[in-house]
Amino acid sequence: MPTLRGALPDYPWDAMAPYVARAAEHPGGKLDLSVGSPVDPAPASVREALAAATDAHAYPTTAGTPRLREAIAEWYLRRRGVTVSPDAVLPTIGSKELVALLPFLLGIGAGEAVVFPRIAYPSYEMGAAMVGADPVASDDPAEWPEHTALVWLNSPANPDGRVLDVPELRAAVDRARELDAVIVGDECYAELGWSERWRDKRIPSILDPRVTGADHRGVLGIYSLSKQSNLAGYRAAFLAGDPEIVKPLLNVRKHAGLMVPAPVQAAMVAALADESHVDAQRERYRARRETSCPRSRQRATASTTARPACTCGSRAASTPGRASPISPISASWSDRVTSTASTRRITCAWRSPRATRPSRRRPGGCAPRENFLDIERLFGIHG
Ligand SMILES: Cc1ncc(COP(=O)(O)O)c(C=O)c1O
Repeated sequence: MPTLRGALPDYPWDAMAPYVARAAEHPGGKLDLSVGSPVDPAPASVREALAAATDAHAYPTTAGTPRLREAIAEWYLRRRGVTVSPDAVLPTIGSKELVALLPFLLGIGAGEAVVFPRIAYPSYEMGAAMVGADPVASDDPAEWPEHTALVWLNSPANPDGRVLDVPELRAAVDRARELDAVIVGDECYAELGWSERWRDKRIPSILDPRVTGADHRGVLGIYSLSKQSNLAGYRAAFLAGDPEIVKPLLNVRKHAGLMVPAPVQAAMVAALADESHVDAQRERYRARRETSCPRSRQRATASTTARPACTCGSRAASTPGRASPISPISASWSDRVTSTASTRRITCAWRSPRATRPSRRRPGGCAPRENFLDIERLFGIHG
C-alpha cells in the first residue's frame, strides 16, 4: 500500500515563492505567469444562474442534474463535433481533482505506468505518485511501456501551447488501445486557439470521430470552464467518453462524495449555453497577446517544427515553436508589460525532484521531464 508521506515534492508554486518575491521587486512589478488564474470577471449570465440556485438544501447528485448532463452533451456536439450520450458525461469539481485522482479512481497502482507529456502540468505526475504508479514522461506513443495503464494528453498544452492534430491524436489512441490503457485528453484550452492554423477550424478533441472511429472505447475527454468562462473559483469541469469507464467512475465518486455543488451545476448550464462570453474572452486574450507580443503575429506563419525543450533557468535555441494558443495566464500581463524584449529574458523553471536524476522505475528511453514556463515560448513562438 503506497503511503503519501514523503512521496510528493513540494507544491511547485510554493517552491517558486522566493522567485515570485524577487520578481516583485522589479520596478513596475512582476508578471506572474505561473498560475493560470483568470483575472477577468465571470459572465453576468453565469453569476445570475448561480445566485438563482442558492437554495441548495438537498445534496446534489454526483452524476449532475439531467439538465447539466444534457448541456454538456449539447456542448460537445456544438463546439467539439463530438456525439456523447448525456449518460456518458460526469461533472467534476474543477478538472484538477480529476487529473490528480484519476489513477486512484481507476484503481491503478504499483507495477503500472501513467504516461503524460514531457513538458506538462505537474498534476499528471502527482496523480501517478499518489498511487505508487510509475510516472513516464513521453510524447512518443512508440516508447510508452507495456505496463501503461493510463495516458494523459494535453492539447492545447500547458505550458507550451502545443496542439495535437487528428493524426497525432489517432496515433496516441491507437497505441493506448494496443496497450489496453485508458487514454484521456485534457482539453481545458480547446476554445483558446487563435493561430492561423486554427482560426477557422476547431481544435480537435480526443473524442472526435476522426480520432476514435466514432468508438469511445478506452477514451475520455476532460474540459474545464475555468479558462473559457473565468470560472476558476467556481470549480466547474466535466469529463465525457467511454460509458464503460464513466459508469464505474461515477460509482466511486458517489462513494467518495465527489459532487459538484448544486448552484455551480446551475451556473455550468448557463455557461455552456452562452457562447458569446467565450468569444469575447478569446478576443480579449488575442488583443493582449498582440499588444504584448507583436512578434507572435510575424511568427504565426512560421514553421511548426518542434522546438527543443528549455533547460532549467535558461532559454533554448529559438527555433520557431510548435503550436497555437497560449493559456489564460496571459490575462494579467497586458497592463504590466512595457518591454517585450525584457519579458523574453525571464525564464521561470522548476523541476520535480524526480526529473533531476534518472528514475529507477522510469523505463529506459524516456527522457526526464522538465516543467517550465518560458515566456518566449508562451508568447512569442506559437504558430
Ligand atoms: C492543463 C491543465 N489541466 C487542468 C487544469 C486545472 O484546471 P481546473 O481545475 O481549474 O479545471 C489546469 C489549470 O491551470 C491546466 O492548465
